[in-house]
Amino acid sequence: MNKPDSARTLAPEVRPADEAGLERAVALLRAGDLVAFPTETVYGLGADATSDKAVAGIFAAKDRPRFNPLIVHFPAADDIADAVVPCTTARRLAEAFWPGPLTLVLPRRSGCRISLLCSAGLDSLAVRVPGHPVAQRLLARVGLPIAAPSANRAGRVSPTTAEHVARSLGARVPLILDGGACPVGVESTVIDLTAPRPALLRPGGVALEDINDALPADLKIDAPDPGPADPRSSAPARSPGLLTSHYAPALPLRLDAKEVAADEALLAFGPNPPAGAAVTLNLSPSGDLRKAAARLFQSLRDLDRPGLRGIAAMPIPERGLGRAINDRLRRAAAPRPPS
Ligand code: TXA
Ligand code: MG
Repeated sequence: MNKPDSARTLAPEVRPADEAGLERAVALLRAGDLVAFPTETVYGLGADATSDKAVAGIFAAKDRPRFNPLIVHFPAADDIADAVVPCTTARRLAEAFWPGPLTLVLPRRSGCRISLLCSAGLDSLAVRVPGHPVAQRLLARVGLPIAAPSANRAGRVSPTTAEHVARSLGARVPLILDGGACPVGVESTVIDLTAPRPALLRPGGVALEDINDALPADLKIDAPDPGPADPRSSAPARSPGLLTSHYAPALPLRLDAKEVAADEALLAFGPNPPAGAAVTLNLSPSGDLRKAAARLFQSLRDLDRPGLRGIAAMPIPERGLGRAINDRLRRAAAPRPPS
């Protein structure tokens, strides 16, 4: 039966990531359209990275500021060589962590085919080889580098299921490939390799401790000072996307909560959380940081209920994936730009 046009424009097509779904995704991407697809970290909003028009479509669909550069995804580490100039450290980290939740920022190669919009005016490019089997199959089949930010409206919580993407972007994305929930649950770790010393731009799915294990003694990255609750005062200028409040649920978020009020939702961690919240979700009763990361964004969405005063988040240890969790929570709690 025909649906009214209004219904058609509100709902994107959501398909399982089977043969037919992948074929449709490849056709759309080759035609310059957008496709949302699962990676091991979060769902990405993908487009042909070599097409200015396709990449411009990503910025428009997300309402993303043009100064915030995009990560370009490749099927294998060897495939980045035409786009960027890898150094020894890049090769070492790629060997250790790709495919996987790691993004490397490298100098753009001159004459590189990637749309300049992906670099947003910088002379660098962020590259990643994702490990999720659906992302792998899509990239191998489409034969194009794919630019993909997280598939959410700018500034909001990243999507870890196809349903989150549909709710955030609606028909702004013609097709969502459904590959189930993303296993890592927080975005990739972003490492800047454009200066002599590597720098951590965003903690993420690969723990800083593991990255340092793969680096020689003179290049190890210092753990960043977690800094004040307002990341705008301390964000590294080298990563433009980290300058504003981000990952924000609609409710205000309160950090380091040791007790909770009856009109608050509690984002708990570990055994014996304080009692008395209107609703409590525990990221990991056993204190497992990997499990907590995988549940973080779903839990923030589930606690974001009308009628409550806010979300109170218990302290999370600043180690392993706890760094990425705390980074996202601090940004979600940061003062918001006027809307
Ligand atoms: O896990 C992920 O990284 C996901 C999946 C889809 O791959 N993508 C993702 O993209 O999180 P996005 O756009 O939401 O975040 C990319 C971050 C932003 O903070 C951006 O500013 C930074 O990487 N970035 C991208 N290109 C950069 C560059 N050339 N120099 C510095 N930072 C860059
Ligand atoms: Mg994002």
